[in-house]
Amino acid sequence: MRVAAEAERLRAQGVDVVDFGAGEPDFPTPDNIKRAAIRAVEQNFTKYTNAGGTLELKQAVCERHAQDFSTHYQPNECLITVGGKHAIFNLTQALLDPGDEVVIPVPYWVTYKDVVNYAGGKCVFVGTDEEQGFTVTARMIEPFLTPRTKMVIINSPSNPSGAVLDAEEFERIYRLCSRQGIFLLTDECYCHFLYDSRPFSIASLPGAKETVLVAGSLSKTYAMTGWRIGFGLAPAAVIGAMLKLQSHATSNPTSVAQKAAVEALRGPQDSVETMLAEYRKRRDFVVARLRAIPGVHCAEPKGAFYAYPNIGVALKNGTASAMQFTENLLDKAAVAVVPGEAFGTDRHVRISYATSMHELERGLERIHRFIVEQ
Ligand SMILES: Cc1ncc(COP(=O)(O)O)c(C=O)c1O
Repeated sequence: MRVAAEAERLRAQGVDVVDFGAGEPDFPTPDNIKRAAIRAVEQNFTKYTNAGGTLELKQAVCERHAQDFSTHYQPNECLITVGGKHAIFNLTQALLDPGDEVVIPVPYWVTYKDVVNYAGGKCVFVGTDEEQGFTVTARMIEPFLTPRTKMVIINSPSNPSGAVLDAEEFERIYRLCSRQGIFLLTDECYCHFLYDSRPFSIASLPGAKETVLVAGSLSKTYAMTGWRIGFGLAPAAVIGAMLKLQSHATSNPTSVAQKAAVEALRGPQDSVETMLAEYRKRRDFVVARLRAIPGVHCAEPKGAFYAYPNIGVALKNGTASAMQFTENLLDKAAVAVVPGEAFGTDRHVRISYATSMHELERGLERIHRFIVEQ
């Protein structure tokens, strides 16, 4: 947020800022989805809906999840939320009691830490190895489990690292958790953006529905960040508790956006493939370009649309932080990135490549020069 505000300030002064900060697709929402929303307005679908979302949309979510991942969710195991973030918020607030421990691999998406803390829970961070592409394993998680562990959060593909868990390792983590009655929250926000493997949901394993909690989002998959539609898939009792909270906090997600979401889920899916092909091209370019900067390391992202290079070489005497690097980069080279501190590491920055090749070329050239000339 701080970097975005500073970038905005510089832009207002006429500085030509290249922005790699935004975590959202640069593609417009597909036309068929926009038209469904326009139809909804014209047909006056503009009133309250069921607080947990329309039955039509819940059915569409369950059907799409079944078609993509062979799961068997019913509408009473589904809640429509105001973006995927809201699903994660409701899940954590509904399930965590003060003192409950939640295992979170590092680097992590910023929100996990804050929503766990807000619920009075305690974050237990598990470091991952950059050389292994930041992937977490059951063996790495096991020593951190205690009788107070209530939940493990997995985000594959990961924001910020792009790390992807293979199905076997994900299953080992699931078995480790389910043996001990620990909830496994799987954040599937980027699940369709995979470069080397097929989309997969841990919720498809037989029996997994009892302890697996799915947080899903239409934001990235269908380039719908501003529409604010996400969902939770969980045991009916958990959905009931989330609904209680939601009915007093927000009531239903916007009625018109729900109609658009039905079209997104039931309509043609080719826009997802088109975006993925474009992200792959950009990923290859960004990784190669970062690795061409002397001393910079970059694990290859296997999914999502972020690169998480190690810029330790540019931290003076090893004392400066990624935050300071980020501020200087913006100040002196007019490139906005997100410092690793936001994600739990201090020698990395996150570069979003959900932007045009032209911007990527310009921005990476500036980063190269900035690091070499320091
Ligand atoms: C890992 C991850 N999970 C969930 C979300 C939530 O997205 P939204 O609330 O826009 O659906 C985001 C958004 O950036 C994310 O990066």
